[in-house]
Amino acid sequence: MRRDLHTAAANAALGFGLGLRTDHYEAILNGPTADDACAEWPIDWLEILSENYMVGGGKPLHYLDRIAERYPMVMHGVSLSIGSTDPLDRAYLIQLKALAERVQPRFISDHFCWTGVAGRNLHDLLPLPHTDEAVRHIARRVREVQDFLGRQILLENISSYLSFKHSALPEWEFIRAVAEEADCGLLLDVNNIYVNSCNHGFDPQTFIDAIPVERVQQIHLAGHSHNGKLVIDTHDHPVPDPVWALYAIAVQRFGTVPTMIERDDHIPLLPELLAELAHARGIATTIKHAEVEASA
Ligand SMILES: [Fe+2]
Repeated sequence: MRRDLHTAAANAALGFGLGLRTDHYEAILNGPTADDACAEWPIDWLEILSENYMVGGGKPLHYLDRIAERYPMVMHGVSLSIGSTDPLDRAYLIQLKALAERVQPRFISDHFCWTGVAGRNLHDLLPLPHTDEAVRHIARRVREVQDFLGRQILLENISSYLSFKHSALPEWEFIRAVAEEADCGLLLDVNNIYVNSCNHGFDPQTFIDAIPVERVQQIHLAGHSHNGKLVIDTHDHPVPDPVWALYAIAVQRFGTVPTMIERDDHIPLLPELLAELAHARGIATTIKHAEVEASA
């Protein structure tokens, strides 16, 4: 129990990370060049997309092993399909557990979504009906996954572009209900909250205020696009101002939770992402100092 408390405290103090992308393997291993502004990369931890490393060998695992020797790692998956009515995929869970044993990640996460049904994978993170029945269904499956892995998992709020007519709960109440019934952690994607607030018409602060503080163990920051009608979670732009503003609100509520920049397309050189990471760190530090001064 004492060791668990130590682990939880260490994880909460992880700091500021990046999603590990193949474009940056060498830069992360080699460190800054003479042209770079800083003497060392200010990266506290790295998140991998789990499925990219569920392979028998080769370049991804070669780099992963070397990078994991130097940085704390976090595993983030897209194939758990926790909301599906198909049985949980045992073969996938066995691979996930094996990868976790190899990487020793601080967190293992997936999404509040379903990705397929009747044995077909649709390769997208699809929204769930926000009903009491879905809460019970998903919470039962999360407990099953956690029992199999022998550890708690985190689930992330997704961006969505449609909703179910029979949803009876707002998204934030649905997330809170699943987290509490399953006793899982939450990965809060601040960009996804912003995207959904635009697409579904709600106040994003209402979402943040409803999420239990003690459940939030990791934060994602990302950019998005507009297609004229909807805000699309494309992860191909820098974090925009409204998402930074919402991040400040999140830090005020949740404290300095381990936070990372998530860029999946139009991936820039590492220093550009590090500048965004420094901005996140600056927001969190400013808020922390202000709170200390206010309490003095
Ligand atoms: Fe995310």
